[in-house]
Amino acid sequence: MTENKLTTTQERGITITPRMPDFSFSAEEVPANWHSEGAIISAFWNGLSCTTPALEAFFIRDMRRLEPLITDFPELQKELKAFVHQEACHAATHRRWNRLLADWGGPEERVENRTKKALNFIERWTTSRFRSAMVVSGEHFVGELGNVMISRPEVFGTTHEVMRDIWVWHGMEECEHKAVAFDAYTEVYGKGLWSYLTRVAAFFTSSALVTYAMFMSTREFLQTTEGESREWRQLMRYLYGKGGLMSGRAGAFLAILKPSFHPWDYGSNKEVLDKYSNEIFDPAWEEKAARKLNRTDAIAMAQK
Ligand SMILES: [Fe+2]
Ligand SMILES: [Fe+2]
Repeated sequence: MTENKLTTTQERGITITPRMPDFSFSAEEVPANWHSEGAIISAFWNGLSCTTPALEAFFIRDMRRLEPLITDFPELQKELKAFVHQEACHAATHRRWNRLLADWGGPEERVENRTKKALNFIERWTTSRFRSAMVVSGEHFVGELGNVMISRPEVFGTTHEVMRDIWVWHGMEECEHKAVAFDAYTEVYGKGLWSYLTRVAAFFTSSALVTYAMFMSTREFLQTTEGESREWRQLMRYLYGKGGLMSGRAGAFLAILKPSFHPWDYGSNKEVLDKYSNEIFDPAWEEKAARKLNRTDAIAMAQK
C-alpha cells in the first residue's frame, strides 16, 4: 500500500531544491593559488573539486537504482529525484571549475581518471547493497563537511569570492539532502543487523578511500603549483588543528557507527540553512535548474 507519510527531511521543514548557479570561472579573475592561506590549501580544495564529478556520478547511478524500488513512499521517491538533480548540478559546476584548473596546467584529468578507475573497481566487485551503504557514508561525510563550510565560513579565509561561494553553495545543498541516501537505504534494505553491518563495513572502506584520494590529489596539485613538502604540516593544522575544518567533528563523523544512527540526529542544519540561504542562494538558480539545465540534461553532464 502506498504511504502518504512525510520524509524525515520534510518533517524538519526542509525542501530539497535543485539550483544551478552561474559562477564565472575565468583565469583573469581567479588566481591559481586562490586560497588566502597559500598553495597547499588551494591544492587541497582543487583536488577535492577534481574528485567531485566522478563521485557525484557514482552517487547518482546508485540512487537512481534505488528510486524504482521505493514506490510505496512517493515523497521519498520525489526527494531522491531532487537529490539526483542537485548532485548532477554539483558535478556540472565543478567540471567548469576543473576545466580552469586544467587550463592552468593542473593534473585535473589524472585525478578524475584515477577516481573513476577506483569507483569502477568498486562497482565491479561489490554488491549493490554495499555500494548504497558507501553512498550513505559519503553523504554523511560531505553533509558534516557542508555543515562546517556554511557555519564557519572563516575556513575559506579571505579566499577569492567565487571559490568560497561554490563550496558554500555545495555545502548548503549537502546539508539539505544529507538524509536522503540514508532514508532510501533503510527503506530498501531495512534496519536489521545485516543492513547495519554493511553500513559499518562501507564506512571504513569509504573513509580509507576518501582519505587516500584527498591526500593523493593534494600532492599532485601541490607539485604543479610548486608547493613544498613542509607545507603538509600547514594542511594538518588547517584540517585538524584548533578551529580547523575537521576539528571538533569526530563525534559527528563517527556517529554513523551507532546502530540507532540517523543523519538528522547530529545537527538539524535548519538554523544555518535558514540563516544563509537568503544571502547565498539566488532565486534565478532554481529557474536555471528547472529550465536551462533540467534533470535529464544534468544527469547526462554528470555521467560524462
Ligand atoms: Fe554534491
Ligand atoms: Fe550529496
